[in-house]
Amino acid sequence: MSKNLYIKTFGCQMNERDSEIIEQLLAQEGYVPTDSAVGADVVLINTCSIREKAEQKVFSLLGQLREEKASNPNLLIGVTGCVAQQEGEHIRERMPHVDLIVGTQQIYRLPEMLDRLTQRVSAREIATDLEASFAIPPFQKLLINAPPSPTPHGFRRFVTIMQGCNNYCSYCVVPGTRGREISRPVADIVEEVEILASQGVKEITLLGQNVNSYGLTNKVAETEVGFAQLLRQVAAIKGLRRLRFTTSHPKDLSEPLMRCFAEIDILCPHFHLPVQSGSNAVLERMHRKYTVESYLDKVTKLRQLQPDIALATDIIVGFPGETEADFQATLDLLRTVRFHGSFSFKYSDRPHTRSADFTDKIPEEIKSRRLQEYQTLQDEISLERNSESMGREVEVMVESGDHAAYRGRTPVNQVVHFAADGQSFAPGDLARVVIDQAGKHSLKGRLRSEP
Ligand code: SAH
Ligand code: SF4
Ligand code: F3S
Repeated sequence: MSKNLYIKTFGCQMNERDSEIIEQLLAQEGYVPTDSAVGADVVLINTCSIREKAEQKVFSLLGQLREEKASNPNLLIGVTGCVAQQEGEHIRERMPHVDLIVGTQQIYRLPEMLDRLTQRVSAREIATDLEASFAIPPFQKLLINAPPSPTPHGFRRFVTIMQGCNNYCSYCVVPGTRGREISRPVADIVEEVEILASQGVKEITLLGQNVNSYGLTNKVAETEVGFAQLLRQVAAIKGLRRLRFTTSHPKDLSEPLMRCFAEIDILCPHFHLPVQSGSNAVLERMHRKYTVESYLDKVTKLRQLQPDIALATDIIVGFPGETEADFQATLDLLRTVRFHGSFSFKYSDRPHTRSADFTDKIPEEIKSRRLQEYQTLQDEISLERNSESMGREVEVMVESGDHAAYRGRTPVNQVVHFAADGQSFAPGDLARVVIDQAGKHSLKGRLRSEP
């Protein structure tokens, strides 16, 4: 008999990809995905711990599930992902109704763990070892045998190329929650992308916390292939129309990688390069291992090689000890680079990170004011950047829509809405659109009339 599985995913694309893998793994055991915890047999919360708020969301959802479990005592509740890794058994001190705790590298164990719980061989299950899962044959097979996504975005998929992080930025939980950096063998990555392309996938995003150091740190298989070479190999796979990757650490951004933006046709000229702060003093305390000057040098080189490149970034405001002058330096950096967009966050203390013990914490109201100021400036710049597209013809990869109107994205990841003009497009199709309206979050346009 089939069982209903509800997975709620928080956090980054790596977690989204892990949720897909879990769904696939459990499909083989007869679990069918549902979109609500009500009436489900198993609920899994795939958690994120990057900021305090992210973790709070997890515990508030677990709190709500207590009632669901009271009305359905057979319901199994599991916690996976970064909070599971970080808190382990402690989760049950606050949430005793949790049956299952699975760390980031142990998801391939889920079928046996759920089996023991449903057979009532055990009442509680926990697995939080941080061994490298790429080295484990069932996990490798899983990553490769992923079926096409049933979502409307099935034309666009993520492919994990590495796990973990060795950088130990002083504020960050990831090295603790995802373990040491480990690169997946090239042959497996290429095989996975080939399978996806043959299933009609048009856009691939290669995923890792620091893709620039792909192949340089711990490897599962012996390979001398660096990230730039990997990109070239993946780009050569027939059928793909767009290639992206995330995330890159500025200190490891090499010239060969920069050249890829000029030389690989299908590599989208959109680069997420998190800078975190515009102050060298703050960058040093963050343990980022680059300076504002070296970051700006790389931006200049990138723009020489690919003048159309759109840069996006991550910013933390209110890092411990951040002075008003440090914050102004971050605004200056934003004015200088004129990022197309940024994700900006208020600093929050995280467990087992060095900055949690730093003194000079910034009061909440100052952090809020700085975040507001940063975001207002970014919005102005995003609008100016988007306005640069006015009158231009852009290539849009269609995501959704019908005979009336469609929505899609440009190579630099701007959202575009356009009228269908009687034409019909499937998700993943490319349309040529002339832009006639620009907002800070999206563009509007009309189909190019045939010459
Ligand atoms: N690996 C990527 C980003 C990982 S986390 C990189 O190195 O750039 C995503 C973003 O969350 C980070 O870039 C940072 O801006 C933010 N972040 C991480 N820890 C944080 C904390 N303790 N407080 C606030 N923001 C944080
Ligand atoms: Fe966290 Fe730094 Fe690693 Fe990014 S590079 S995941 S911010 S430790
Ligand atoms: Fe969150 Fe873990 Fe990703 S902490 S951002 S889910 S690596």
